[in-house]
Amino acid sequence: MFINNQFFKIFRYMGLKIGIISMGSKSSRMILEEADNFFDEADHIDIRKIEVKIDDKTTVLYDGEPLKDYDCLYMRGSFRYSSLLYAISEHFKDKCYVPLEANSHVIAHDKFKTHLKLSQVSSIKMPATYFTAKITETKSFLKTLNYPIILKFPSGTHGKGVIFAESYSSAASMVDALDVFSQPVLIQDYIHINSDIRVIVAGDKIIGAMRRFAQKGEVRANSHQGGDAEPYLVTPEVKRMSIDAAKKIKADVCAIDLIESDYGPQILEVNSSPGLQKITETTKKNIAGEIAHFLFEETLRRKDLKNKSDSKDLNKDMGIEEIGSRDLVTELKMNAGRIILPEFASKQSEFWPGEEVVVKTSKGKIEITKG
Ligand SMILES: Nc1ncnc2c1ncn2[C@@H]1O[C@H](COP(=O)(O)OP(=O)(O)O)[C@@H](O)[C@H]1O
Ligand SMILES: [Mg+2]
Repeated sequence: MFINNQFFKIFRYMGLKIGIISMGSKSSRMILEEADNFFDEADHIDIRKIEVKIDDKTTVLYDGEPLKDYDCLYMRGSFRYSSLLYAISEHFKDKCYVPLEANSHVIAHDKFKTHLKLSQVSSIKMPATYFTAKITETKSFLKTLNYPIILKFPSGTHGKGVIFAESYSSAASMVDALDVFSQPVLIQDYIHINSDIRVIVAGDKIIGAMRRFAQKGEVRANSHQGGDAEPYLVTPEVKRMSIDAAKKIKADVCAIDLIESDYGPQILEVNSSPGLQKITETTKKNIAGEIAHFLFEETLRRKDLKNKSDSKDLNKDMGIEEIGSRDLVTELKMNAGRIILPEFASKQSEFWPGEEVVVKTSKGKIEITKG
């Protein structure tokens, strides 16, 4: 196990709180359980009980009451909730650590928007894709293609919105059928797949990767389509493309779906709230624990940065001169013969209450070091 609970428990006094906003899926619960090992408080926030009220200011209500303060708000949810997730992320982005930027929910839930965004990154390759709102345009374009092709719903998941068309006539009749339901459709080059890969990104790291296999007679290799999987050792190219994609979408935690083709790896999509069961089972790694650990470290890092800038502001307000990063000129305070150090000294030294320290004194000098 990578977690030394004793070590992390010393952080608990800081009272760091995480809220995981989700539908309460198995994967979200796995992360919540792991987050409880790191954070002082880890709450499940049911997305269905959230309301956003906008009048002269924005209020996010949970079960009718303003949502309480958190140090980290990690949001997961399906396409149906992307506008709500957008609103909540936007509202809390300056108040606490929000691992997925508001827009990343909207982009990741739309394969066309994802494609557009990732096409701006030079390291990323993707299958050639075509999209139009007008069916007549689509049909004339279908005539110009080499078959087979792939038709996709921009917001489909679990392989359900992916259609394989082996000829112009089958593609044209599918497009007609989709038009009856006013469904926009995305047309993509069919890529002969050597490997179907899923990687999970957390910050600058790949925390899990698997290769998925389609069932016999099936084009789609998603695990929801019953395919098998094995652990996958990421190549430097897959690693680079996946981390670049997550950065471009501004999702600190996400899954990237790629295919290994004869022309190298290509990205298919970004998943902003990936399922964790199949990848945990396949890699035998505690992926939920890795995500919780990452969220904790990042929350702590941001809190620390904020404290540092707050202490600078405090110094300014109190008219204290800061020399370098450690030396401060101030007036010594004493109470009943005991020296009271200013708050910025405790903050900058990063001592914990109750910590064992060595106090060395001589005339005109006190030195306190960790014991
Ligand atoms: N352009 C393509 N060429 C070949 N196979 C594809 C292509 N696009 C998707 N697939 C297959 O369909 C699966 C699902 O596609 P994907 O775009 O990831 O949508 P979903 O959101 O349904 O997972 C992929 O994992 C892959 O096996
Ligand atoms: Mg996929």
